[in-house]
Formats: sequence, structure tokens, C-alpha cells
Amino acid sequence: MVSSETLDVIELLLTAEIYNDQNELIVNDIPSKIRRTLWDAKTRNVAKPIKLNKTVVKNMFGIEDVENALKVNGKPFAYAVLDTYSGNLRLTEGSLESAADWFKRQDESRDRILENPVLAYYYGNIAEESDISYEEAASKNPPKEASKEWIESIIEELSEDKGNGREWLKLAYIKAPEEVRESMDELILTERQKNELQKIELAINNKEHFKNIGLYDIGKVLFVGPPGTGKTSFARALSKKLSIPIVEVHLSMITDQYLGETSKNIDRVFALAKKFDPCIMFIDEFDFIATSRTANDEHGAIKQAVNTLLKAIDNTSLVEDGVLLIAATNHTKKLDEAVWRRFDEIVDFERPTLEMRKDILDTILRRIEGNIDTEAIAKKTEDYTGSDLRMVVREAVLSALLDKRYNLVQEDLEKAVRSFDRRSGLKMTAFIEE
Ligand SMILES: Nc1ncnc2c1ncn2[C@@H]1O[C@H](COP(=O)(O)OP(=O)(O)OP(=O)(O)O)[C@@H](O)[C@H]1O
Ligand SMILES: [Mg+2]
Repeated sequence: MVSSETLDVIELLLTAEIYNDQNELIVNDIPSKIRRTLWDAKTRNVAKPIKLNKTVVKNMFGIEDVENALKVNGKPFAYAVLDTYSGNLRLTEGSLESAADWFKRQDESRDRILENPVLAYYYGNIAEESDISYEEAASKNPPKEASKEWIESIIEELSEDKGNGREWLKLAYIKAPEEVRESMDELILTERQKNELQKIELAINNKEHFKNIGLYDIGKVLFVGPPGTGKTSFARALSKKLSIPIVEVHLSMITDQYLGETSKNIDRVFALAKKFDPCIMFIDEFDFIATSRTANDEHGAIKQAVNTLLKAIDNTSLVEDGVLLIAATNHTKKLDEAVWRRFDEIVDFERPTLEMRKDILDTILRRIEGNIDTEAIAKKTEDYTGSDLRMVVREAVLSALLDKRYNLVQEDLEKAVRSFDRRSGLKMTAFIEE
């Protein structure tokens, strides 16, 4: 048996050699685990040709003794050269075919090939093995835009940008898709929402088409619904699904005590998002804009900020800037016509129906032991949001733990619902008395 360290190094050697040889192969074909170490922040690319040495191997896999890792059955791997002085490492001249042939015969190799588009290209397209598809491997490999390094290289560049960039970065939270925890398959969506999701995906994937036919006003979406119905989760999950970064802006973060500064911040944060092309720009607390429009505003400064925001939205385009704009709000009533007009899609986030509540509970309980009648709980939780249901489950898990149990029983959840009802009852009375 060959150790997986050995296979790591030989897979790397093959990947580098094939990537260097084949013009068609691009940076997104390199598996993310390999790309990470080879990434060049300045050019935001992996240089061709790839040059390997001991340090690269050590940084990539944590392998200290490369010489030893390159031994097969106690003998140095026949098709590689490791220069003891320089530490440089490569396949022996003209031995790609033999090395690839050897690699293919190893136990773990098939999984590795199917997850490595560069190798899949070699075995599938060049060696013409019919059961290996480059396209399939490529579609599974996250693109460079999904990686932390991608975001970090842009941030680095912005920080070097004499002062400006560094300030801009304080105005938003930026996350790489690979860091996003929320995922679409944990969200229970209505048919309408699924439909909207499809439209958003189509718009992103057909940017060129929209450009060609002169339709620039797509890619601005407004999420409307009460707190806890999944708006933020949807936007983040979308980042993961589309493999593009998410730039999260809270309007409370960019409002400054000096109102003129607020307007400037708005322009800055849009400029920031455009640097991350392609990305999702998620503007939370969008109602701020509506509340402010009606607010008592003697100096007209708030109105100025709102106008700046509307103008910034107008000047941002998915087709031209690669920014998919998503704004979220709790209130529909507060938004006036001028605001509505700017969005081409409105997605409703309603309180979940009975059936959805059951599905949400099933999803949340997926990894928790216990045989629960979720339909019964769903029936008792009318008007609960997804976030409320999460709270109920958390409460139930805690009370089971008090009882020294990791599993849940029906009564844990029933009790949690009763206590939730009591609490929201209290909240209501407190509110009325106020
Ligand atoms: N439809 C749903 N399916 C599954 N989980 C949901 C759903 N709706 C909400 N949740 C869960 O509830 C929690 C809160 O959701 P989220 O923060 O996305 O709500 P929100 O609409 O952004 O709320 P707010 O308006 O307060 O910002 C998340 O953990 C999410 O997983
Ligand atoms: Mg939210």
C-alpha cells in the first residue's frame, strides 16, 4: 500500500506537469486544495508554468520529509527528480505517461482523478478513458472566486491603496463562499421562492446574453418579510450556491453622525462591492431608507443620503459590474414607489405554512437523535417563523440535556413550544402596557 502522503505528492507532480503542458487548462481547473498554496495574490492567478519545490509541498500538505514521502515500497519514485540542493521537484523528462499510468493503478486514485479537473482532463480527454469526464470534475471544483485567497488578495490590494481601501473595508462584512455556513438545502422555500432562485441563477449565468440584447436592468432583488423568515440565510446560501463572495452591508453600519459622511460611505461601499466582481451585495435593514424619507429632516441631509443610495443602486449593474444586488426589508408599507421601481424582482418571505413548518423542523432535527412527530409540533406552531422553530428546538435540546439526554422526546418539544408561547405572550403584554 502506498501512503496517502506519497499519493498527494505524486498527484501534485502530475497536476503541475499537465497544467503546464496544456494551454486549455485554466486556474479554475486546479483543485482548490492545491490552488491555495500556489495562488499569487498580485496577479490573482496561478502562474504557468507551476514550479514545485520542497517548501511548496510542505506548505500544501504539511509534509516535512519530501524525500521520504516520495518513496514507493522503500525506493525513490522512479519518475520524479528531487534536487537535493535547490529542493526543486518535478517529473523526470518524458515520463508523464508512465507516471500517470502508475498513478492510475493505485487504490485511491480514482476518487482523486474525479475530483481533480486537471487529471480528469488528462485521463478523459488525452488518454481517452471513456469513464472519466473532465466536464464533470470541473463542474464540481469550486472556482477561484469561491476561495478565501481570492477575497484576501482583493482586500490586500485595497489596503495598499493609500488609505482609501482600508477605510472602505470597515463598511461591510465580506465572506468567501467556502466560509459561508448557510446552505440552500437547509432552507425550506416556497414554490415562488424556488422559482425566483432559478431566475437569479439564470440571470447570473447569462450576463453576456443580457449585455448583447441591451437589457442592463437585471440583478436587483428585494427580499421582503418579517424577521426570522430566512432572508439573510437565503442571501448567504446563494453565495455558496453560486460560488461568488458576499459583501454584507448593514445600513446602520454606514450611517455616520455626520450626515455628509453617510452619503460618502454609501458611495464607498458600492465602490467596494464592485471591486469584488463577481459578488452578491447584500444590503440589510433596507427599511432605513424608508423611515428616513419620512423623518423630520430639517437640513435635508437625510434626504441627500437616501438620494445617494438610490443613485448608487441605479449605477450598479450585474451585467456591467458583476454585482448582484439584494436588499432586505421587514416592511413593505414603508417603501415608496421610487424605491420599488428600482428592483426587478421582489421575493416574498412569508411565515411558513403548516407543511413548511414540518419540513423546517425535520431539517433542524436532522442530526438530532429521537423519534419526533414533527407534524404534531407543526400544528401547534402557527405563526412561528423558521427562526422561532429553531429557538424551540434549541430550548428542547437544552431541557433534554438538563435531563442528561442527548436524544429528544416529543415532550421536550411540546414543552418548548408552551414556554415559547408563554414568552411571546409576555412580550405582547409588555408591549401593550408600554
Ligand atoms: N424557511 C426556512 N427554512 C429553514 N430555516 C429557516 C427558514 N426561515 C428561517 N430559518 C432559520 O431561522 C434563522 C433566522 O433566519 P434569518 O436570519 O435568515 O432571517 P431574516 O429573515 O434575515 O431575519 P431578519 O429580518 O430578522 O434579519 C436561520 O437560522 C434560518 O436557518
Ligand atoms: Mg436578516
